[in-house]
Amino acid sequence: MKEKLEQIKKSSEELLKNAGSLKELEELKVKFLGKKGELTSILKMMGGLSPEERPKMGQLANEVRSKIEEDFQNAFKDIKEKELELKLKAEKLDVTIKGTPVAKGHLHPLSQTLENLENIFIGLGFTVVEGPEVETDHYNFEALNVPKDHPARDMQDTFYLGENLLLRTQTSAAQIRTMETLKPPIRIICPGRVYRSDDVDATHSPVFHQVEGLVVDKGITMCDLKGTLEIMVHEIYGNDTKVKFRPSFFPFTEPSVEVDVSCPECGGKGCRVCKGSGWIEILGAGMVHPRVLKGCGIDPDVYSGFAFGIGLDRLTTTRHKISDIRLLFENDDRFLKQF
Ligand code: PHE
Repeated sequence: MKEKLEQIKKSSEELLKNAGSLKELEELKVKFLGKKGELTSILKMMGGLSPEERPKMGQLANEVRSKIEEDFQNAFKDIKEKELELKLKAEKLDVTIKGTPVAKGHLHPLSQTLENLENIFIGLGFTVVEGPEVETDHYNFEALNVPKDHPARDMQDTFYLGENLLLRTQTSAAQIRTMETLKPPIRIICPGRVYRSDDVDATHSPVFHQVEGLVVDKGITMCDLKGTLEIMVHEIYGNDTKVKFRPSFFPFTEPSVEVDVSCPECGGKGCRVCKGSGWIEILGAGMVHPRVLKGCGIDPDVYSGFAFGIGLDRLTTTRHKISDIRLLFENDDRFLKQF
């Protein structure tokens, strides 16, 4: 029996040395230490020994068992380390290999121009507010001094969503919402989408963008309007660009103007873009009509204000010399990449 135990010890030592994988080790463990393993079957034979031999053999068997168990533990540890090393080697990354370039996106030219405008006006002390695109007739027209039967409604072909609900035709609706909630001094711009039932062509789209501006305080004059807009034009188009204020009409401003800039394409000589005139119209503006101020609870004898509505799409196409407004909405990557 002693010999058998020694033999088991030896052969397990040998086999363990050559075991190359965790799986092999597991199998060996069952073979030696398992319920039906070699060591267990020897221990079962202990019953046949004499009472003097039994404790001696018992001790030896226990020693052999703990030795084998210890060997197994070490072998498991070694193999795990080896396997990890192999795995790490196989998964090694060469971080110096060049990757596939990822195409970087950027802001749409409309968003870029809007960001420029926001920065200019924030620099002048304005805050940016937003209004809803679905408006009531009241905010889009009535409160802006355009009653139901007013001919000025024909200037803007409207998408109605119900009797009193519509897609806003102008960001001017935001003037009223602002004046109803804020007390002067007020200095805001409100950018956003506006909608008019226009046919699509190179200069028209049923959805376009405006940036409304509103200033209300004591002693605001047309000079403030002119100065503010000139700063904006020079920042956007460059300091050499000329600005022209033309008398015009809007029901919610009095007096009203339209503002032209010298054509960025030809510098004012006259070309296809400015239709030979040398000028391009970019916005409507004026002094807020006293009736509009009054309607919002602001006393026109104490306060005055100016408002303007910039055509963001026009500003973007002209400053970048884009010939067709549709290019801004088609989202063709080959076009957008240029900006
Ligand atoms: N809302 C006008 C338009 O869409 C522009 C405008 C805004 C005019 C503010 C005067 C003051 O045509």
